[in-house]
Amino acid sequence: MGLLARKSIAVLQDEAGETGVDTLKRVLSASNLTLLGIGAIIGAGIFVLTGTAAALYAGPGVMNSFIIAGVGCLFAGLCYAEFASMIPIAGSAYTYGYATLGEFVAWIIGWDLVLEYLFGAATVAVGWSGYFGAFLHRLGIDLPAGFMSAPLAVQGTHTLTRVPGGIVNLPAVFLILAMTTLLVIGIKESAKFNNVIVYVKLAIVLLVIGFGFMHVNTANWHPFIPPNTGEFGAFGWSGVVRAAGVVFFAYIGFDAVSTAAQEAKNPQKDMPVGILLSLGICTVLYILMALVLTGVAHYTTLNVPHPVAFALENVPGLGWLTYLVEVGAILGLASVVLVMLMGQPRIFFSMARDGLLPPVFGKVHPKFGTPYVTTIVTGVVAAIVAGIFPVALLGELVSIGTLLAFVIVCGGVIVLRRRSPDMHRPFKTPFVPIVPILGIIICGGLMYALPNDTWIRLIVWMAIGIVIYFTYGRTHSKVQRGIGAATD
Ligand code: ALA
Repeated sequence: MGLLARKSIAVLQDEAGETGVDTLKRVLSASNLTLLGIGAIIGAGIFVLTGTAAALYAGPGVMNSFIIAGVGCLFAGLCYAEFASMIPIAGSAYTYGYATLGEFVAWIIGWDLVLEYLFGAATVAVGWSGYFGAFLHRLGIDLPAGFMSAPLAVQGTHTLTRVPGGIVNLPAVFLILAMTTLLVIGIKESAKFNNVIVYVKLAIVLLVIGFGFMHVNTANWHPFIPPNTGEFGAFGWSGVVRAAGVVFFAYIGFDAVSTAAQEAKNPQKDMPVGILLSLGICTVLYILMALVLTGVAHYTTLNVPHPVAFALENVPGLGWLTYLVEVGAILGLASVVLVMLMGQPRIFFSMARDGLLPPVFGKVHPKFGTPYVTTIVTGVVAAIVAGIFPVALLGELVSIGTLLAFVIVCGGVIVLRRRSPDMHRPFKTPFVPIVPILGIIICGGLMYALPNDTWIRLIVWMAIGIVIYFTYGRTHSKVQRGIGAATD
């Protein structure tokens, strides 16, 4: 069989219904899934990047950037929802690719998703460490500086340099190991923990929006889109587009819901709800939050590490809310890390089941019912990455990796509609092929806007993946041996 060998959808659907040893437990409800989505979405993007995007690129027009990125995600989300309801397997985009575009593309997506989930968890853990350090400082506790900072930084856009005195980002390592432990103990326990955090962070975001609106100075919204300074991306509409590429990071995570498909009680119905509802709720909140932030503080002041807290500090009478915002960010970012660290092992799990990774990655804990080997491997690698790499390098790599997966999933919907038009689709992406094509155009456009260095890192990462595929996956793949292969 060749690189285009596909996995049969009938076999995938059978696997989704399997029970017994080494299978995952179906315990998650629609509300659990929606809260997992919100848990993964609201994090460093809104708490950190909004300020930078407004101050450097779009001004109050960053609201439009949130709309553009949100629409791109909505189109991709509609495509994810079709696949997730049809093939409710833990592998998410990797599995959809295997069923539609063949083994090689599937491997590429699976390898690419490591950038989204494993590197995503590491990125947000580094952001968390910043908030956590600031919070401890407020309480009069200061960790030694060497243990708060990664030993490496990026100089310019590409050279890695040594940070004098930086040893390891210990809080980031600690957070990842704590979340990994929780994930090994149980998906239900993890979902419960996530639910509590999500309610708290939603409440805090709503308080910021509510109280913030009461203190908006509408003069700050004029001009809404500051005129372009003559350079592409520096304000004007080109700035709005560039800012959309930056705030795209804030939406990453809704697709993590699809990695829990094998643990959903009723995936056909609940997967689309979980994906689309979490995305919809966060889009509305982000648009309102962007208006509030640029309304209470002038956009030129917002390029700070804690823009939300900073904007509120300037409002007389809202000082109390800044403490809550810090707590919200600490809890909120922790839940993003949790859900990202949940997604990655489930993708590895599916890849191991297909023979593309060693079988030990497909092991499920006899008592906890979780894919514990992959969870621990993911946690340890993510902890190392978070401990030594700087956030600037990680964040853009996460965005480009995620956008690539979105583009492939949108393309996959079109391919499968052509190849298997009559297959039962509990949820159908509307207006195919228009919606997937628009998804490809918007997500592809956002990729295009990312810096060249990020593209080079993506290509290097993919090259490593291709070597692994040809040295291991191709010879161990079950489909290559005819097991579960599509015959049409
Ligand atoms: N959307 C997630 C965040 O902003 C990744 O932290």
